[in-house]
Amino acid sequence: MQITVIEGSPHIKGASSAIAQRFVDGATEAGHSVDVVEVVRLKVGACRACNACGTSGPCIQQDDMSGIRSKIMSSDMVVFVTPVYFCGFSAQLKTVIDRFYSFSSNLRTRGTKAVLIASSADKEDWTMDAVRIQYDSLCRYLNLQDCGRILATGCGGADAASAVRFKDEAYQLGKSL
Ligand SMILES: Cc1cc2nc3c(=O)[nH]c(=O)nc-3n(C[C@H](O)[C@H](O)[C@H](O)COP(=O)(O)O)c2cc1C
Repeated sequence: MQITVIEGSPHIKGASSAIAQRFVDGATEAGHSVDVVEVVRLKVGACRACNACGTSGPCIQQDDMSGIRSKIMSSDMVVFVTPVYFCGFSAQLKTVIDRFYSFSSNLRTRGTKAVLIASSADKEDWTMDAVRIQYDSLCRYLNLQDCGRILATGCGGADAASAVRFKDEAYQLGKSL
């Protein structure tokens, strides 16, 4: 499989990307080809809702989203990686997802596989509720096939050691694909 991992944290070496790296290790060992997109290094503007694309045409914005679009449209799987920000996806990841608008009609026909990796500081039983619902709805809306999720609670700065258990989980998920 060709897999695109979209990392939406401003921390290049943060908890979510460290967990995602183990997923990449597992998937690579299993023989898959993985491309990691670190959104923080790229220029991606917010969707302007101009509707010039009609959900299937080119976007009028000329920025790094065109490269991300090409990767996604030639991938069998997309992995969404995000820290939890005020109960939801990070703005960095959400900005990229909003820009899916210009190819959403095409994407919906592909049945692309999907995985979610999210990390949070808190570990309440409801900490990941909104993230989980957003991901499930996104899969349904874009006709993505959910292949698993790592919901890594308790991964705040001082508590980063908690990420270890989730790194193992992510490695196993990648390896099992
Ligand atoms: C703007 C902001 C909002 C956050 N909101 C939440 C939150 O709602 N719930 C939570 O548990 N952690 C929250 N956090 C903490 C991060 O989700 C957590 O530290 C995460 O593991 C960071 O991942 P990263 O190292 O990959 O960036 C927030 C952090 C920031 C900077």
